[in-house]
This record gives sequence, C-alpha cells and structure tokens, in this order.
Amino acid sequence: MGLVWDRALAIGDPEIDADHRHLFGLLAQLEHAVGRADQRTILSDILSALADYTSYHFSREERVMAQLRYPGADDHIREHADLITRLAQLIFDFERGDVEVTTDTLKFLRGWLTTHTSGTDMKLGAFLKANCPTIATPLPRGTAPHTRPLAAAVTPGPFASLRGWR
Ligand SMILES: [Fe+2]
Ligand SMILES: [Fe+2]
Repeated sequence: MGLVWDRALAIGDPEIDADHRHLFGLLAQLEHAVGRADQRTILSDILSALADYTSYHFSREERVMAQLRYPGADDHIREHADLITRLAQLIFDFERGDVEVTTDTLKFLRGWLTTHTSGTDMKLGAFLKANCPTIATPLPRGTAPHTRPLAAAVTPGPFASLRGWR
C-alpha cells in the first residue's frame, strides 16, 4: 500500500504542503507498526500524534479560510470535523481494546487524506493562488507538533483526555 505524499498532491502552499507530507509520514509509520506483535504502545503513540497533528493542520487551513473569507469554508470545515470525530472515536475504541488498527483502518485514513487533499484542499490552493498568492499561513513555529520528538508530540494535546483509557 503506497502511503507517501507525492507532488501530484501539492496544493501550492509550502506550509500546507509540508503539513500534508508530515501527515502521510505518520500514516507510513502507522503502516509499519500495524500487525506486529507488541506494537500496541507504538500504535497508540502514532495515533495520538496523528490526531494532534491533524488538528493542528486543520486549524492552519481554517485560519487561512477565515482570513480570506473563503466561500467554500463551511463544507471544507465540515469535512475536517468529520475526520476529527472519526479519529477521536478510533482512538477511544482502540484504547478501550474494542477495535484493532488494521490494514482497513490504514486504507480508510489513506483514502480520506488523499481524497481530501486532492479535492477539497486543492480547491483551497487554487483560491489562494488566485486571490492571495503571498498569504502567510502562520501558526507559531515553535508549537508545531512536528518540531518535537514523537514521544513529546503526543502529550499534551487536544486528545489527551482520551488517553486515560489505555
Ligand atoms: Fe482541508
Ligand atoms: Fe489539508
């Protein structure tokens, strides 16, 4: 299963594209850990990092959309909220031991990220290019989850409350 970001998925904004590369990288890490014995803690850490970084990335895009009064913002944000809900449920169920992370889980996550990036995010990229090619998409650099090691990236975060179920 190919889980890597490639140039065809570039929307043209360096910060957003870097985020997408990082998210695909986390999926690749998840793929490595799936199906191996004694990987439960690693899976848990990667899922948490994925949820945290996804949330961070979505706030970057949503901030840009708000700044530019992007006309497609409502639908775009709804898609984000849907994935956040699904990820939260997955983590909740996984930590309780109700579900396993399988190749089907990976397939879903990869499919969601690829479809959203190549469709919904690509439209945002085109809008940015047409309306404000020089817009900054800043979130404070030092607070980006990917600037910290994985172990530190998973705590604290917006999903921290779900981790007590381990
Ligand atoms: Fe998006
Ligand atoms: Fe995105």
